This record gives sequence, C-alpha cells and structure tokens, in this order.
Amino acid sequence: MTNATPRPLRLDALAYGGDYNPDQWPEEVWHEDVRLMREAGVNLVSLPVFSWPQLEVSPGEYDWAWLDRVIEVLWAGGIRIDLATATATPPAWLVRSHPEMLPWDADGRRLEFGSRQAYCPSSPVWREHVARMARAMAERYGEHPAVVLWHVSNEYGDHVARCWCPESAAHFRRWLEEHYRDLDGLNEAWGVNVWGQRYTAWEQVEPPRRATGPVNPTQLLDFERFSSDALLELFRIEVDVLRDVTPDLPVTTNFMSLFRELDYWRFAEIEDLVTDDAYPDPADPHAHVPAALNYGLMRSLKGGRPWLLLEQAASAVSWRAVNVPKAPGRMRVDSLQAIAHGSDGAMFFQWRQARYGQEKFHSAMLGHRGEQSRTFRETAAFGRELQRLAAVKGARVRSRVALVVDWDSWWGSSATESLPSQRLGWLAQARAWHGALHALGHAVDAVRASGPFDGYDLVLVPNLYVTDDAQAAALEAFAASGGTVVVGPFSGVVDPTEKVHPGGAPGPLRGLLGVEVDEPWPVPDGAAEQVELAGDRIDAPVWTEWVEVADEASVVARYATGVLAGRPAVTRRAHGAGGGWYVSAVLADEGLVAIMRRVLDDAGLPARARIDRDLEAVTRADAETDYTFVLNHGAHEIVVDVPEDAEDLLGGGDRTTGRLVLAPLGVVVLATPRAAEPPFITLSETTD
Ligand code: GLA
Repeated sequence: MTNATPRPLRLDALAYGGDYNPDQWPEEVWHEDVRLMREAGVNLVSLPVFSWPQLEVSPGEYDWAWLDRVIEVLWAGGIRIDLATATATPPAWLVRSHPEMLPWDADGRRLEFGSRQAYCPSSPVWREHVARMARAMAERYGEHPAVVLWHVSNEYGDHVARCWCPESAAHFRRWLEEHYRDLDGLNEAWGVNVWGQRYTAWEQVEPPRRATGPVNPTQLLDFERFSSDALLELFRIEVDVLRDVTPDLPVTTNFMSLFRELDYWRFAEIEDLVTDDAYPDPADPHAHVPAALNYGLMRSLKGGRPWLLLEQAASAVSWRAVNVPKAPGRMRVDSLQAIAHGSDGAMFFQWRQARYGQEKFHSAMLGHRGEQSRTFRETAAFGRELQRLAAVKGARVRSRVALVVDWDSWWGSSATESLPSQRLGWLAQARAWHGALHALGHAVDAVRASGPFDGYDLVLVPNLYVTDDAQAAALEAFAASGGTVVVGPFSGVVDPTEKVHPGGAPGPLRGLLGVEVDEPWPVPDGAAEQVELAGDRIDAPVWTEWVEVADEASVVARYATGVLAGRPAVTRRAHGAGGGWYVSAVLADEGLVAIMRRVLDDAGLPARARIDRDLEAVTRADAETDYTFVLNHGAHEIVVDVPEDAEDLLGGGDRTTGRLVLAPLGVVVLATPRAAEPPFITLSETTD
C-alpha cells in the first residue's frame, strides 16, 4: 500500500507553531495562548499528543468537552490543527488491566509504567485499543475545518523500538515464517551449522535475548528488520482507520532524523507528508552539518516533495546531560536551514513551557517568563519574518548529488559484534562523506541503493555492507549511463542473509568497481595509516583494506604506510562517460575533502576552492524562480560571491551587488530567475 499521490497539507502559508498541551493549563490560559500565537504568526499547532488518559478517563468513558472547547478557541483564532490520535502513550487503566502489553528488554525485564510509550509494538491489546482510539478521534473531529493533518502516535521507537516479550517472540516467529516459509528455509538463511544452532520446531526460535556469547548475526539482523516492521504495522493500523473515516486528510507521523531503529523509506511510503523532529545540539558548533544530511533524507523520503520540521527547540532541550541554550539568532538560522532544505515551515516542541513534569526545563516558544521571555521575543519576531518567505512554499531543492541510506547495511554492520572492527560506524561514515560534500558546497539528497538515480550526477555509497544483485545492477546502470558512483569501505560484503558473497567483497559491485578486496585491514585504536594522493599524505585511521585491481580500474591513491604500503587505496573504473570509484579506507576529514574534490571534477560538478564549513547554500526552485538560501552558521563574518541583482527576500527587497557580507548567524534568501544550473555560492576571493 504505497501512497503514490499524497494528500496535500491545506495551509496557505509556511507552517509555524508547535506542540500545544492545553490540558496542562487552566482554560483562561488558552485564550491568552491564542492571542500570543497570533502575535507570533502561529498558524498550526499539534495536539493532543499525550492526552489519551484525559480523553478516555476510564474504559469507554470519554471526556471530549475540554478538547471540543480548545479546538473552538483555536479555530476562532484562525489557528489550524495537526491533530494527534493521542495514542503516543497508554492510560494507566489500560496498562493495569493488561500488564502483558508492557514491553520487555533483552534481559527479560518488564519495563514499568511511569514515563511514556509504555507498550509492546506487537501487543494485540494495544493494537486493538489504538485502532479504537484513532477511530474515536477521527469520528469526533475529522470533519472539523480546523483539522488539516493527522499526527499518528509520536516518534515511534523513541523509547521502545525493540521488545523481547513473549508476544514479540511469537510475532517474530510469524514474521520469520512468512519470510522463510519453513524451518529449512530459516536454518539455511541463518547459517545454523555454525556454533550448532539448528532449529527443529518453531517454538525453539526466540528473539535475540542476552545469550552466553555473540549471537547469530542473521538472527540479529532479522530482529532489526522485524522490529522496524512491527512498528510499521502499528502505524499502518492507525493509517487505515484514518483513511477509512477521513479519506481526504493527510497523515503523518513525526520522524527522528537519521534514526537507526526504523526504516523510514518504508514508513514514508504510507504517509502523505514527511515530518521530522530535529534537535541539533547548540553546544556543537558543527551540528548544522549532520542536520543538513538529516534534512536531505527528509525531503528525499517522498521523492523531493516538501516536508515539515514538526519539532525543534526554541532554545535548550532537557534530555542531554548538559542542555545548552541557543544563542540569540541560532533558532532563526536553524529554522531557516530546515526551510532551505525543503521544509514548508518550522515548528517547535513546544508552544508554552511546562511548569511541571519531565519537560519543565525544556525551552518553548513561550518561556516561563511568558511574553517577556527571550524565546517568545525571538520566535514571535521570526514568525512575522517568515511571512516574507511565502513564495518558497512548495518549491523543491535542487541537488545533483545523492547519498545512499540503507537500513539493512546500517543494522547489519552494527547489530553484531563479530566484525573485522567495531569502529567503522555506518552513521559516522555517512556523516563524514556528507560532510565533505557540504564543505565543497553541495546540498545532498538521500536515495535508496536500488535507486532511482534520475537527475543526479553523483551517487555516494559510504557503506553498503549488505548488497543484493538488484542494487549492484542499478548502481552499475547509473554509471554506464554517465553517472559517477563512489563506494566506501566494507561494501558489497554480504547478501541479505549475511552470507559473504562468493569471492568476497565487493561481491556484486565488482563489475562497477573493477577491484577485489583480499582482506579488510582495520587499524588499531590510537594508530593511523596513511594514503598518498598526488604527493599529499592523508590520514587513514580506523579502517584500511588489501585491495587488488581486478578489472580495468585505475589507481587514484595508494597506501603509503604499514603492510599495505604501495597497494591501491582509492580506485576508479571508467564506464563510458561515467565511473565507479572505490575508497577502501576510512579517511580523515581533510583527506576525504581532497578525494571528493576529484570526484566532483570527474562528475562535472563544481566545488568550492576555499572551504568554510559554516557556510551553507541551498537552492529551492519552482518553475520560474531559484530561491537560494545562503546561511552563515558560525560566529564570524563570511563574504561570498552571489549572483548580481539578486533580490534578498528576507532583506525586504535589498539588492546585492555580487559580493555579500553575511553577519554571524546571518541568512539571505536570494530570488533569481530559474537557471539551467542553480547558483553555486563560493567564498569571495575579493579581500578588500
Ligand atoms: C521529542 C518528543 C516531544 C518532546 C521532545 C523534547 O521530540 O516528540 O514530545 O519530548 O522530544 O525534545
């Protein structure tokens, strides 16, 4: 059930607002809330995310009255609603009458009530009640004109993404039976002859609990797949109910950026709008770089359509060990970054800062000091400013580079401890490769390993540990049609059942890359080998490989130290106008930038000559206009060259002269007639 024609979010402006929890406040506060929301340009709020216990006070006994009134107050104030199905957390009465619905950890301990998400994703009781509650919400409010979006559950898997209870075990067995049909299939897939794990009855099969030693890796990988699917099934139950009652309303569930536990490609298939919760750490001066990768994924999950940043913090969060507030201007640049990357708005957790409970120290648009709080002054000013960007709504990001995000490879290379090295890190690799492209001036989309790759010149594959023939064929076809593919270390290693491909890595990618890996050669902690690229030395901490050129690949860089000295480190195999690169080592950032500079040149794409990682430029475009966001994420001025006579939408019609000084945390949005190539923004060489 893929959702080919998503239902649109009917909002006539960029979305602005936040989670709203009126059930934490007396009714008179609601009126003040709406007055201040209007002052701040708020047009959308999410509610009632955690309110099931306040709505169904005992089994079958509903108290809708307060929510009826809240919705009327918001509607009267012109505020639209992203209506939650209120199924993010169960009421105590449900848990206490069905304690078997509570999740278990890998040690077999039951997790208690007292926080949120206190449910096993496979629990039939929970599933039945969730469907009932979603229907009750849809039947009561689905026709209300204020409701423009369904918000299903909340951050699936945030606290409980994996469950080891008996119900999950039974569900896991059913899932395995569907995939492998019979025990012979399972035994073959799991390679049970190693360490004597043959199963002779389904009842013997369990989820991978804590065991005597390293657990069967295919069992671990299948449990990751199953657990993601179990939450997907839960999501689908609500989606089906909502589509039945309100077929025209769009549906979303809020994602958590690049979240390991759930395969978001599959979740996005069944929703109408991708929404994301993003909390870049203000204490990290480079947090905007991984944020850009997260946003690249969000826009790509539905083929480049706009998505929506549904939650971010106005200032500090309250769930890190140290929660640093956002400096003045940081919230604005963070919000504009998400919009630059295709978000049709910027929303917050939450509207009004709580006075009690787990999140009372989490910032909000309206802080504890109310109208006097800095967060209110800043978010209100930004809400008004945002109206200048109305034209950007619906415009799509222009990117020529895509990075493969593959959950199977992420899980496979991290679920087991039985690896050449536990230091490779799928996410670290993806971030490092993306970081190099960011430094060189490119916004990067995400893509599945099987494509489609239309519209891209360059596809990056930082790691594809699990590779099947169809993925390899798709990547090779892209190279044969003139595209450039770059594959990173420890790719093409195993098939989907985690069996090493015949002949070893890169398995089915051999035709694309023209190399064979004799052995991975991980680098011990604290050591670093080196690679030589055109006379320069590049550090290779963490990982190297013994590579043999097998088939018409040319050597771009060689190892310079250690046992591998003189052997190929980076190679390129030509495919007509295209090419397949293999980077066999984990390279330090500067070295990766040097390699990617060559890759971009090979792909016919521009690269910044000088690098400032605080500079980011992203172009969204509609049929007539390129909107180029130029952002300075840093605390120093940045001078860039920009197209002459570009109109800065945020500057109220100021016209620039080709050279632009961006203040610390400064942003411009340049509108220019849509060109064949979007403007490529570089640091100015003029030094006066
Ligand atoms: C998540 C949740 C919210 C809130 C925020 C706090 O995004 O969805 O309910 O807890 O974290 O940062």
